[in-house]
Amino acid sequence: MKTDSLFRPFSLKSLNLKNRIVMAPMTRSFSPNGVPTSDVAKYYQKRAEGDVGLILSEGTVIERQASSNDPNVPHFYGNDGLNGWQNVVNGVHQAGAKMAPQIWHMGVMDPHPSGWLPSAPFEGPSGMGRPGFVNGISMTDSDIADTISAFGRAAADAKRLGFDSVELHGAHGYLIDQFFWEETNRRSDIWGGNTLAERSRFAVEVTKEVRKQVGDDFALILRISQFKPSLYTNQLAKSPQEIEAWLNPLAEAGIDIFHCSQRRFWEPEFEGSDLNFAGWVKKVTGSATITVGSVGLTGEFLAAFAGESSQPSSLDELLRRMDRGDFDLVAVGRPLLSDPKWVKKIYEQRTNELKGFTKDALTELVME
Ligand SMILES: Cc1cc2nc3c(=O)[nH]c(=O)nc-3n(C[C@H](O)[C@H](O)[C@H](O)COP(=O)(O)O)c2cc1C
Repeated sequence: MKTDSLFRPFSLKSLNLKNRIVMAPMTRSFSPNGVPTSDVAKYYQKRAEGDVGLILSEGTVIERQASSNDPNVPHFYGNDGLNGWQNVVNGVHQAGAKMAPQIWHMGVMDPHPSGWLPSAPFEGPSGMGRPGFVNGISMTDSDIADTISAFGRAAADAKRLGFDSVELHGAHGYLIDQFFWEETNRRSDIWGGNTLAERSRFAVEVTKEVRKQVGDDFALILRISQFKPSLYTNQLAKSPQEIEAWLNPLAEAGIDIFHCSQRRFWEPEFEGSDLNFAGWVKKVTGSATITVGSVGLTGEFLAAFAGESSQPSSLDELLRRMDRGDFDLVAVGRPLLSDPKWVKKIYEQRTNELKGFTKDALTELVME
């Protein structure tokens, strides 16, 4: 297996990576009252010691009363939360990796299984987290303005704390994605509209504010997904032209890298070509892209939540696409939960030592 293309450096603005492997953002819910503990710092540092190029943090929520449905999801605001993140980024840098927080507002959510609720009602474009499921309020103009500012403050804090970049979570049916999707954005004002490009206004305004706060030279990543957890077959953009209309305004507003979330990276996005989502986004926008989804594993991540185990699988198809120039970076999720040394093992061709993934990897944070 010739893995050279994964181990080339990558530079874009503030991001200078020693290789192309990114740790995918993964919620762990190990930060009581929103504060990342020393174990959280240890967990990330171990992946950095294992030679991951860029670590994307688990989703970490911005300063809105209803930005989270889980008391153990970390905050990216307040002294305690930010001090916790300072320890995390220091440890990761000491171990030679780069890091970006994934800043997040969950939008309208199902209640947490524990019964915990935020101190204000869930909020979204039209009070809906998924089609027909109203469990929150429709945001007013002032809610929207305040949320945009909160994203900007979080990005400014990320830069101040020494992070190398910021990722905005615009995927998987959460707040930004609730604006993108016509099924959850039923607004008739400027924040809604019949086209995906019109419904992207919220994301564009968030991006502009974030860009204003961090300046021109700080790399910004936006995570997007066509699929929704409530509808795997969904396509927000039904053609390359719709991708262009959706994402070019976001690139103009300041996004440098699109992180294109798929469940299986090898699945073609449109008929007539084998290009995947990241491949199309790179082709159409000319921007850098990250691919993700079952790299090095046989089964995909949502089935993993339901208890399905996965075995290690070959990287040949990934490398074929990477060598063809389809995408710039590759994010890896579950393999790095099971094994902090995954990247080293790939580099050293120790394929017989690779581990599979079982749900047990979710129950502990720092495993040996
Ligand atoms: C435990 C777990 C938590 C996740 N949490 C997040 C998250 O906070 N933000 C996000 O964008 N994606 C999240 N994801 C999705 C991953 O970033 C990634 O896209 C997915 O696991 C597919 O990659 P993989 O097949 O390499 O695991 C999560 C996945 C897992 C397994």
